[in-house]
Amino acid sequence: MFDFDHPINRYASGSIKWQKYAGRDILPMWVADMDFAAPPAVLGALHQHLQRGDLGYAHAPAGMGALVADFIAQTHGWQIDPDWIIWLPGLVSGLNLACRAFGHAGVVTLTPVYPPFLSAPGLAGVALTQIDMCDHADGWQIDFGQLRQRLRRGQLLLLCNPHNPVGRAYTHDELAELAKLAEEFELTICSDEIHADLVLDTDCSHRPIASLDPDSSKRTLTLMAPSKTFNMPGLGCAFAIAESPAIRARLKQAMAGIVPHPNSLAWPAMAAAYRHSRDWRLALLDYLRGNRDLLQQAIAALPALKMHHVQATYLAWIDCRSLGPAPATWFEQYGLGLSDGADFGAPGFVRLNFGCRRQLLQQAIERLQTAIRANTGR
Ligand SMILES: Cc1ncc(COP(=O)(O)O)c(C=O)c1O
Repeated sequence: MFDFDHPINRYASGSIKWQKYAGRDILPMWVADMDFAAPPAVLGALHQHLQRGDLGYAHAPAGMGALVADFIAQTHGWQIDPDWIIWLPGLVSGLNLACRAFGHAGVVTLTPVYPPFLSAPGLAGVALTQIDMCDHADGWQIDFGQLRQRLRRGQLLLLCNPHNPVGRAYTHDELAELAKLAEEFELTICSDEIHADLVLDTDCSHRPIASLDPDSSKRTLTLMAPSKTFNMPGLGCAFAIAESPAIRARLKQAMAGIVPHPNSLAWPAMAAAYRHSRDWRLALLDYLRGNRDLLQQAIAALPALKMHHVQATYLAWIDCRSLGPAPATWFEQYGLGLSDGADFGAPGFVRLNFGCRRQLLQQAIERLQTAIRANTGR
């Protein structure tokens, strides 16, 4: 019903992902946007909007908050009040705002992690504590012992769930343990859940930490967006959700005069994504599952590389430490453009975005295999 194998010319639209290697035979498998066209309903809504010719300032259409709340209730079983929503032009803005508004006692996060988690505290002039995750035989785990030891009262916990880059969808028990620590240390939680709708494993589901219990709901600012799920990150539409009026007020104060609303095209796109693109999302998850399985099998056959099962996201976190320093640069010689683990706080790792046509992924796997074969003589 939806053709995820259909190629689109991404150079023509100025794609950051594709322009990086323009003119070079390097497959761009780095930044987290997918190569698929956005859902037909989203494109249709944008066409309609453009036909009216109006690109003026636009409020969120009536009912947008209720639509978002309905999608979140149906997809994640979390009941929110539309009044808890604050619109944002992006999640990175949200992470930086959170550090400015709630980070005065310091920020703590679990590494490796999406690079803005590491830069936002410094940009806000507050201290960052990094807690390394444990690389267990059965997957990446939170080091609760370390976390407890290094937490300080009143800090901001920047959580990434599902976790980019390690691909974990945290379990109820893990989140409950985090929530218990948050209560004990009176933390504010900023939970980046941009990948929430991209849980690939059918036997696990996304659980917003704010939905765990009343205390977590009151101390959490959740950041979400349709941008990763429906592949429209260039439209700049996202939102924060907080039950606490005090958290909302502080966030708005940090935003005042600086942070714009989503742009006028974001509204029809977001409405069409949440209202009419549910089947597209399910088909996408099927396709991504196929890509993930293919990649996991290929990596398992290459002893020089290691990766854990990816439960969620379209990102594979690959341990290349046996290949020596700077593997991302080294892979470029073999025609692969990957994200450098050093940017995520973990040199020696690379992140591979498998949100692409299967044929392209197959080509990337062949290049990985060639590179590893060549490495024997390295
Ligand atoms: C965890 C996480 N948060 C935020 C973003 C970016 O959000 P935005 O484009 O809305 O600023 C990404 C994109 O890769 C991400 O993976």
